[in-house]
Amino acid sequence: MDHPTWHGIELDAETALALLEWQAEMGADEPLLDAPLDRFDLPAPPAAPQIPLAAPVAPALSLTPDDEDLPARVAQAEALAAQAGTLDALAAAQEAFDGIELKKGARNFVFADGNPAARVLILGEAPGDEEDRQGRPFVGRSGQLLDRMFDAIGLSRQAVDAERAIYITNVLTWRPPGNRDPQPDEIAVSMPFVRRHIELAAPDLIVLMGNIACEVGLGRRGILRLRGTWDQAFGRPALPMTHPAYLLRNPPAKREAWADLLSLSARLDGRA
Ligand code: URA
Repeated sequence: MDHPTWHGIELDAETALALLEWQAEMGADEPLLDAPLDRFDLPAPPAAPQIPLAAPVAPALSLTPDDEDLPARVAQAEALAAQAGTLDALAAAQEAFDGIELKKGARNFVFADGNPAARVLILGEAPGDEEDRQGRPFVGRSGQLLDRMFDAIGLSRQAVDAERAIYITNVLTWRPPGNRDPQPDEIAVSMPFVRRHIELAAPDLIVLMGNIACEVGLGRRGILRLRGTWDQAFGRPALPMTHPAYLLRNPPAKREAWADLLSLSARLDGRA
């Protein structure tokens, strides 16, 4: 019988099992390759085709100017987003865009989910672990709560009828390591795609889920003060709401979230 090998050494079953247990204890939760792969040390991919750059557009956020090529990366993102005439073309352009370091460490590109024809677009923050695995936004614990919340007012990402559907996307399409907050430069290079995404989906109403969505949509943070008050973001009516991840940590806040959902429902039905 063949014995498993480890770095060329033959192992008996007991030793192989002990090694496996040790790796699991060290936090290795997924077998990927025989040898570790340092994604930050991969050879540079072939240069992207030269795109005529539009005049640089000022990013929506104030940035710390510690990144010299940031304006060029933002300008390239602007040019790519502007050229995309459909959501599929935009997704392909954004996925191919290399001007965001997060791409190297993520498993999957997370663009959107739900019905693009929906009247309601939900803008979240960034993919987490489960979203990164599945390549779809809001599929982890907070996504499950989000589904239940919108279900309660008759809206669902599975709905074919645009009146009953939601469309879900995030400010970032690549997972930040360890679920840390998105950095200003990551947001700045993502914003041209977010703006174009919303333009192409053309929802009637936007839900700004949490502080990062409020920051990019309204230029303000402070979700606990902003929530529940209708505003304008990306040229459309927008409702800031507390993020489901916050609601999971603070269940009493679900009461206000319910009031916000009712406000959304009334606005959709023309009752407010
Ligand atoms: N939180 C978000 O903001 N977006 C996701 O897709 C998942 C969790």
